[in-house]
Amino acid sequence: MPQDLIVGLDIGTTKICAVVGEVRDHQVEIVGVGAAPTAGGLRKGVVVNIDHTVRAIRKAVEEAETIAGCEIRSVYTGVAGSHLQGHNAQGVIIIKGREVTAAEVDRVIESARIMVSIPSDRELIHTLIQEYIIDGQDGIKDPIGIHGNRLECRVHLVSGSVNSLNNIIRCANRAGLEVSGMALQSLACGEAVLTEEEKALGVALVDFGGGTTDVAVFANNSLRYNGSIPVGGNNLTNDIAVGLQTSLNNAEHLKKSSGCCCNALSGGIEEVEIPGLGGRRSRSIPRRELANIVEARLKEIIDLVGVELRKASAAIPVLAGAVISGGSAQIPGLAELFDDRLNLPTRLGHPVAAGGLADVIRDPAYATGVGLVLYGHRLQHPSGDYPTGGARTSKPSKRGLGGRFWQWLKDVV
Ligand SMILES: Nc1ncnc2c1ncn2[C@@H]1O[C@H](COP(=O)(O)OP(=O)(O)OP(=O)(O)O)[C@@H](O)[C@H]1O
Ligand SMILES: [Mg+2]
Repeated sequence: MPQDLIVGLDIGTTKICAVVGEVRDHQVEIVGVGAAPTAGGLRKGVVVNIDHTVRAIRKAVEEAETIAGCEIRSVYTGVAGSHLQGHNAQGVIIIKGREVTAAEVDRVIESARIMVSIPSDRELIHTLIQEYIIDGQDGIKDPIGIHGNRLECRVHLVSGSVNSLNNIIRCANRAGLEVSGMALQSLACGEAVLTEEEKALGVALVDFGGGTTDVAVFANNSLRYNGSIPVGGNNLTNDIAVGLQTSLNNAEHLKKSSGCCCNALSGGIEEVEIPGLGGRRSRSIPRRELANIVEARLKEIIDLVGVELRKASAAIPVLAGAVISGGSAQIPGLAELFDDRLNLPTRLGHPVAAGGLADVIRDPAYATGVGLVLYGHRLQHPSGDYPTGGARTSKPSKRGLGGRFWQWLKDVV
């Protein structure tokens, strides 16, 4: 696999996608993509069937290899699900008037890390630096070279269940892939769809996927909060199937072709055709009936997002508003509904931070996959702005996780 190729593997509840990025003149161009349905391999962001997941990974990777014309051996994968937890912590060390060195930065980060006790069945995935404070002066991004007496640092730690993380690695390894790093899906998604201004000012990123809706808050160029709601587009499909008495396949098709919020309906009476079940005749219903079902569930999800944002935003105002991403974000009228209900200016987030294949960079369902490529690129080419964090890596091994090892790498937000 050429060194200038970086692959993001987004293991989602409804689809697994592999996105291949090529680094040209320090810019990432997307040159390949492959996707396969997860087919029951995951539930609510967590692997529940290894064989199905491995099969889908292989299929997605083979498709991406054909399009990019390369062999894929290593990937950056995302992690999601309600097993993930975020913790804010603060560390302090005394430097007695000396200049801050890299060793002291490591020491103050470690002093913050040990403030949070992580049980043995959980593992730290990210240590994300929010800011340094020297002798009470806050907002410092790079403290090296500054003199002072007291060095403090605020960090956001993200931990996850060891078993859930191992299952992701096990699936990738069984598909013949080395895991070069793992990232919180929201963090990766933020890399692809958020602007630097939004991350600086304060923004809520909502990833409306199939099985989960992930909420992340960024401020001061750093991730400050992450949460996951175990409801997503699959629930919309179920509601349509039950409400309109049709199959899940028909409901999924109806949702994608005609589903919308009520605010996106035109004034005229539009009709949609509902295919009958088991040879029954199809029938027509007003599109508004479909929109009512879709909107009822979306309102419930948006209210749950509001609860997450209230937990996060007492101390962190989201002045730039919200960005919605993920496959379900494509439902017409969703941004407006979000804006109305939470009083937050909302836009649809496409992967804007990379060039290349137009189909991929225009589709919010690929935002996390593209973001994982950008995340991998940042790890490989650290700008120096961001201090160290932890990232997990593994090599494929005939003995399962035998080749796994820890490595400290530059982390980014
Ligand atoms: N055009 C569309 N309109 C409405 N919904 C859509 C559209 N395209 C995709 N979806 C829905 O988006 C969901 C899949 O989104 P996405 O690919 O972001 O999820 P995922 O990453 O597989 O799941 P998760 O992030 O929850 O683990 C499905 O429920 C699908 O029905
Ligand atoms: Mg997803």
